[in-house]
Amino acid sequence: TAVQGILWILLGLLLCPGPGTGRASLPLLMDSVIQALAELEQKVPVTEANHTVSVWHLSAWDSDPQDPLHHFLLKERSPKVTKLDPSALSPELQGLMEEVARHAVRGGREYGVVLAPDGSTVAVEPLLAGLAAGLQGHRVIDLPLGSTATPLGAGDTFPDVGAEVSDARATSPGLRNVSPDVSSADVRATSPNAKAKSPTTVDSLLVVTLARDLGLAFLQNPQTQSHPGLGAEGCWDQLSVPRNFTLLDAEASPVTTAFLNGALDGALLGDYLSRAPEPRPPLHHLLSQYYGAGVAGDPELRSNFRRQNGAALTSAPALTQQVWGALILLQRLEPAHPQLQGLSQEELAQAATRAAKEFTEAFLGCPAIHPRCRWSAAPYRGRPTPLRLPLGSLYVHHTYLPAPPCTTFARCAADMRSMQRFHQDTRGWDDIGYSFVVGSDGYVYEGRGWHRVGAHTLGHNSRGFGVAFVGNYTAELPAEAALRTVRDTLPRCAVRAGFLRPDYTLLGHRQLVRTECPGDALFHQLRSWPHFDVVSL
Ligand SMILES: *[C@@H]1O[C@H](CO)[C@@H](O)[C@H](O)[C@H]1NC(C)=O
Ligand SMILES: *[C@@H]1O[C@H](CO)[C@@H](O)[C@H](O)[C@H]1NC(C)=O
Ligand SMILES: *[C@@H]1O[C@H](CO)[C@@H](O)[C@H](O)[C@H]1NC(C)=O
Repeated sequence: TAVQGILWILLGLLLCPGPGTGRASLPLLMDSVIQALAELEQKVPVTEANHTVSVWHLSAWDSDPQDPLHHFLLKERSPKVTKLDPSALSPELQGLMEEVARHAVRGGREYGVVLAPDGSTVAVEPLLAGLAAGLQGHRVIDLPLGSTATPLGAGDTFPDVGAEVSDARATSPGLRNVSPDVSSADVRATSPNAKAKSPTTVDSLLVVTLARDLGLAFLQNPQTQSHPGLGAEGCWDQLSVPRNFTLLDAEASPVTTAFLNGALDGALLGDYLSRAPEPRPPLHHLLSQYYGAGVAGDPELRSNFRRQNGAALTSAPALTQQVWGALILLQRLEPAHPQLQGLSQEELAQAATRAAKEFTEAFLGCPAIHPRCRWSAAPYRGRPTPLRLPLGSLYVHHTYLPAPPCTTFARCAADMRSMQRFHQDTRGWDDIGYSFVVGSDGYVYEGRGWHRVGAHTLGHNSRGFGVAFVGNYTAELPAEAALRTVRDTLPRCAVRAGFLRPDYTLLGHRQLVRTECPGDALFHQLRSWPHFDVVSL
């Protein structure tokens, strides 16, 4: 059969937890997930081993007949069903599988998420869903549109669409390489489109990872056009042995940063798997590369750069079609769905357009910012002065010390703590001086943030944000990705969010204060950037 066999290990964990499967004792780290995958891949019969995995969220779906979409897109297409004796797995592994199988947001807490080595928090369910869809290889699924008169119920079976699916490599509609003429920046193409052609196929990979949940989140808030609370961050109780993850905004929509991270990782890795020749790499191997130095030696293909890679994978117009298709499919499969009942194609299309636009502009197109709790910031001392937004300027700094650029989360977070100690204890300031600090690891680190007056540019602290590159840029330049962040994405997103004026000016620290900062090499570079303020030279 052309359809790749996915191994279905029906652990039934959630239905009848066995002894010793209370709360997991493994820390909620991506390394634990990788360890669990390695154990599964080792225990599963060798001939099927490389198709394993999907596994534990499949086991979770199995106990949830409410999820006909996953059933339709993934399970119906998976011929192999193999039972693995649950007692073959260690109680620790069973506990972890049970705990992270489902993503949920309840009472200000987020469940089913783990801390990755790059400092990002990742929802496991959409990650595994992406791997499962990618392993199937064939991703283009025809929507069951023929039977409009009688919407299909969840229990109904569909005609054998397996015979009709075409090769994802050639025609996958959600993929950028199929439509090279559209780019994520080309958002004009996403304007409301009642006359746009409604989709007849979907890319199972994008639907099960991202499109369905994105669409539902935007249907939930029809009155709020632009901000359904997409991308909320949170804090771990501790970083070495993380157990509990609490959202910073208790009202956050379930489409959190951790969910979007997991969905993007699932889509990117699923895309990689769907193109990878057989035999495919073991999944624990793939994941340890992706959350480490990069897949197959490619330092760009790792979790640190998921947003850039996501922008290359899909565009707002392509994603609009996928979200629209996902909502249509869901409406077909679940006619009684409380959010979808009675909605017209146009209403679904409008929600899809907004969802794809917001996701592309406010998530993919914005820098990933680690909140203060992620680098274990000490509390602010005293009472912060609030900024009066929007501000008119961005002041660029280098840290000088630490002099080496930081290239890992562990290093950058340690640098943040040491700068904060220096600023608080030696300088006697309330907090680390900078508004934001940019590492060479693909991340921005929150200092005083968007709302508090900083201590970075004497005499000008309430007029602009101070953004520092970690390193000494007297003779060298920061990493290209870090430069792009400060030149393009950070200011663009700050303007979009209303923190920075659209006519903001960009200045080097030395233009306002007697200092070498931000270093000759970096300052020379700044002079060619948009919004650079020549007047103050
Ligand atoms: C995590 O949260 C649970 C439930 O709120 C609580 O019982 C437990 O003590 C917390 N664990 C840690 C390590 O904070
Ligand atoms: C599974 O992976 C192993 C090791 O990575 C490889 O040697 C083997 O050929 C693969 N098996 C199949 C059926 O693809
Ligand atoms: C910063 O770089 C310059 C130029 O390479 C060098 O002369 C200076 O010693 C460096 N300072 C530190 C603290 O590393």
